[in-house]
Amino acid sequence: MVPAIVPEARLRHDAGMTVGEGATMARILELVLNGRKRVDAVPDNRLLLDYLRETVGLTGTKTGCDGGECGACTVLVDDRPTLSCLTLAATVEVKRVDTIESRDHDGQLSAVQRGFHEKLGSQCGYCTPGFIMASAGLLRRNPDPNDEEILEALGSNICRCTGYVKIIEAVKYAVALGKQGVAP
Ligand code: FES
Ligand code: FES
Repeated sequence: MVPAIVPEARLRHDAGMTVGEGATMARILELVLNGRKRVDAVPDNRLLLDYLRETVGLTGTKTGCDGGECGACTVLVDDRPTLSCLTLAATVEVKRVDTIESRDHDGQLSAVQRGFHEKLGSQCGYCTPGFIMASAGLLRRNPDPNDEEILEALGSNICRCTGYVKIIEAVKYAVALGKQGVAP
């Protein structure tokens, strides 16, 4: 589906904003966000991270380095872990985007969330949403990863306080829960 392109002036007017010099183009973005269809007016240069946090108000996805180095901003796009700080919102047109806010199931923690909670895989928690989404992406495509596969899947995520042993234990615990039928 080709996204509708509309002048930013109209979008800004619709949003109650004034039109500045050098206005860029914008579009109507349609996607499935955390299982629900959404339609928003989005400037072409809007990052997915800013769209999620500022346009939608889902602040669970964190801004860390803002440059593709830390993984704090990781979300799933069509089940693939994706750095939202390096992704334009326009590129997720008609795709499925899942954020940390989608992780619990009817109030029950997901297997990965339980792993981080019960194995103490989190201290300050700032990196945790990114780790959880990267881990969930791994377990969706490979429910029984070995140590090497876990390390590779989390290789783009940085934690400055927990230490990675606990985080790896958390993912292994999630794998064990997955074998009992708990969703990742
Ligand atoms: S904020 Fe995106 S990788 Fe650090
Ligand atoms: S728990 Fe603090 S940065 Fe990872």
